[in-house]
Amino acid sequence: MPDLSSRDPDWWRQAVVYQVYPRSFADADGDGLGDIRGVTERLSHLAALGVDALWLSPFYPSELADGGYDVADYRDVDPRLGTLDDFDAMVEEAHRLGLKVMVDIVPNHTSHQHVWFREALAAGAGSVARERYVFRDGRGARGELPPSDWQSVFGGSAWQRVPDGQWYLHMFAPQQPDLNWAHPDVRAGFRTTLRFWADRGVDGFRVDVAHALAKDLTEPLRDLGDPELSGEEALTGMAPGSHPFYDRDEVHEIYRDWRKILDSYSPPRMAVAEAWVPGARRVLYARPDELGQAFNFEYLQAHWDPGELRRVIVDSLAQARAAGASATWVLSNHDVVRHASRLMLPEGTDENAWLLSGGTAPGIDRAAGLRRARAATLLMLALPGSSYVYQGEELGLPEVADLPFATLQDPIWEQTGHIRKGRDGCRVPLPWSVGGPSYGFGESGAWLPQPEWFAGYSVEAQDGVEGSTLELYRRALRLRRKLLEGETLTWAEDGPDGVLQFARSDGWRCVANLSGEPVALPAGEVVISSSPLEADGRLGTDTTAWLT
Ligand code: GLC
Repeated sequence: MPDLSSRDPDWWRQAVVYQVYPRSFADADGDGLGDIRGVTERLSHLAALGVDALWLSPFYPSELADGGYDVADYRDVDPRLGTLDDFDAMVEEAHRLGLKVMVDIVPNHTSHQHVWFREALAAGAGSVARERYVFRDGRGARGELPPSDWQSVFGGSAWQRVPDGQWYLHMFAPQQPDLNWAHPDVRAGFRTTLRFWADRGVDGFRVDVAHALAKDLTEPLRDLGDPELSGEEALTGMAPGSHPFYDRDEVHEIYRDWRKILDSYSPPRMAVAEAWVPGARRVLYARPDELGQAFNFEYLQAHWDPGELRRVIVDSLAQARAAGASATWVLSNHDVVRHASRLMLPEGTDENAWLLSGGTAPGIDRAAGLRRARAATLLMLALPGSSYVYQGEELGLPEVADLPFATLQDPIWEQTGHIRKGRDGCRVPLPWSVGGPSYGFGESGAWLPQPEWFAGYSVEAQDGVEGSTLELYRRALRLRRKLLEGETLTWAEDGPDGVLQFARSDGWRCVANLSGEPVALPAGEVVISSSPLEADGRLGTDTTAWLT
């Protein structure tokens, strides 16, 4: 069994990693914004939960044009969130508690406030400083049209004009200019940044938009012809490696270079790619000589459907094995509707329309959503590989779908001209206690409004309470340590329809009932179930159990 507490270089292969979105986790200085000291003070919650590591979303200096993914300085802490000393103290305390620490690296773009971009603007067209980014003259008689038809992920053209008439590329918000990865300064800068954090004791890195760094910028730039083709979804229909800015073959060379740096540490630093590309291509980022791991978004995107889930699990395990990586599983993160709500949306629901309706069309029964979310989690935690859990899912938090429009902070809302509501509903600051100005998040308010029903989901309301979601996660994570033998599973083919059933190598079995009816359990001792068994001992609908 891997010894997660030791210097085992493979600790991450079957770890449970807890994602902290720092501005929404805990606010120690009472300014309404979560901070690093807040994380340190709450590390005991993570240790008691039984996770192996925490991953911090960006805490770097940022004007928050994209919730911190617009980084002004990669080697510092945002003064509103603390100092480098606070960060070091956090790492030290995490390690004392046996928790590994991962940080987010955002290499595709900087903030427009980054010193490189300020230099580029000042230096003018044709300057060496502009070559670190993607500046071009516009089309049209006076250069008044963008250099290509590429669209930003957040809506609108991916090009922004500057006062001297040139345009720069931004795949995300205009405040996030894309870097030119063909430039040696960019390569050297990120090598230094990786070493900066690894030297401070950081155990791993999550690589933001890992699939977008290499771009085909040969002139003339290639128009896509259809705005839809600027989206990651377009990759499914295109020849691998043929998109001008996503998932190009050249990108892998960057990660092979990084791997040498990561492997120069003892133990080697781990890394995980955020790459929204189809599975067989995605695992290329996870090869042992590259990042080692890649988030598996097919699992997150799967519906609560036994056939679809099984297919995704089988494919994901096979693809990870073929790449020499371990599989990963994710149900929620800071970019998607929380799974206690999402899994209840009927197939084909437009999630954005649902958010715009304030979560009323269709309405979701919160208790039913929680039941399903708990079953999905217990299924995920039984799978071989790593699970990434997002802060608040251990409390069973649903999406806050009815945030008033006036409170929205996600740039998607403004940039789409109020068409897409964005991701704030999963970023509402956590409830730690049943009362107080922000349910224990801090001494004052919270930067996004928390609904009154948060009290009932708070840590205080669930701690030590038999049957609570928090206690379910704690127990499951304790039991899971016994499941870490091997990275394979064996499906049972004799179960009822709508039931997923498999065994792990040491005979542990997981049974998930996605059918509409209670089902009989196979022989064995039930060590945990996501909801109580039926009075007659059967496994209810939307329930998962582990048996020995
Ligand atoms: C990633 C992050 C997301 C961010 C985007 C741009 O997808 O997860 O939050 O907006 O990159 O950095």
